[in-house]
Amino acid sequence: MQGYTILEGREAPRMAERTTLRLGGPVLAEVCLHEPTAAAALPEIATRLGGTLVSLGAGSNILAGGGLLPLITVRDGTAPEITVLDDDGTRALIRATASAKLPVLLGKTAKLDLAGLEGLTGIPGSVGGAVAMNAGSYGQCIGDALETVTVVTAEGTVRSFSRNEVEMRYRHMAIPAVAGWFMVLAATFRLPRAAHGAVAEKARAHMAQKKATQPVTAASAGCVFKNPSPENSAGKLLDEAGFKGKRLGGMAFSSIHANFMVNEGKGTSEEAVALLGMAKDAVMQKYGVALEAEVKIWV
Ligand code: EPU
Repeated sequence: MQGYTILEGREAPRMAERTTLRLGGPVLAEVCLHEPTAAAALPEIATRLGGTLVSLGAGSNILAGGGLLPLITVRDGTAPEITVLDDDGTRALIRATASAKLPVLLGKTAKLDLAGLEGLTGIPGSVGGAVAMNAGSYGQCIGDALETVTVVTAEGTVRSFSRNEVEMRYRHMAIPAVAGWFMVLAATFRLPRAAHGAVAEKARAHMAQKKATQPVTAASAGCVFKNPSPENSAGKLLDEAGFKGKRLGGMAFSSIHANFMVNEGKGTSEEAVALLGMAKDAVMQKYGVALEAEVKIWV
């Protein structure tokens, strides 16, 4: 048993099947790791196929190009697990594996009255992806609650790091001690206990606010640009620059929130990239602000 399965060449999936934006052509190969240490095979696969290794979670923050992509996507094929490691009544340590869905983790912590992640309500990704980009909303980032993160490197080595060994900034995560490709396998979160029902109540309020202000059911990748600063919202700038509801072919900036690009059904990667470029240029011209993509652009 080699510990992984690979789909390559004609069997390789299209990124449209793997992303919430439902865009993107085929990759060179997709490797699913059933055992983390099987990652040791990745450098040889990358050399043989001439592609770049990229980790793929739930695909909810990715805009993939339309042609053949020179990428080897790596997925965590191990079962999702969420475990309470420690709970002294006032705070608990929760471990979640990368393949666990973030909403499932939030449901569990709300049930246990554990605070610190409820701001992330409505974010659809996997725990691995959320940690790998330090996802956040309503003033909370997943990194705020992080205690440790476990990753596998391209040598097939599984390593754990404490919070202070990991760089967590706004929509950014890096581990200075690891050069090159790695994939998040699991994370632990230290969460304080709140009054009974308070976390679930906040989560309900956040969800209601999200439903009112974001296109939560559309095919999107969340906000496509980072906010230029905490005081300056990319959505507001795009709205004022006339991009709310703006269409190009089958792609559009949402008419509910201008920083969400949505695939109206038949959108293409080319239209998405062109629309992003138009928006970036317009905001630069109007405000002199260089918007930076939050969505990962894989072309
Ligand atoms: N606004 C507009 N027009 C728009 C959108 C927003 O005028 O089309 C205004 C709003 O009225 C508000 C301000 O801009 O006054 C900020 O808007 P909002 O509260 O929606 O927050 P945001 O800065 O646009 C950020 C995150 C979201 C997160 C929300 C809620 C980024 C890029 N976006 O959006 O995260 O859900 O706050 O906390 O950091 C994501 O990262 O994918 C994402 C969706």
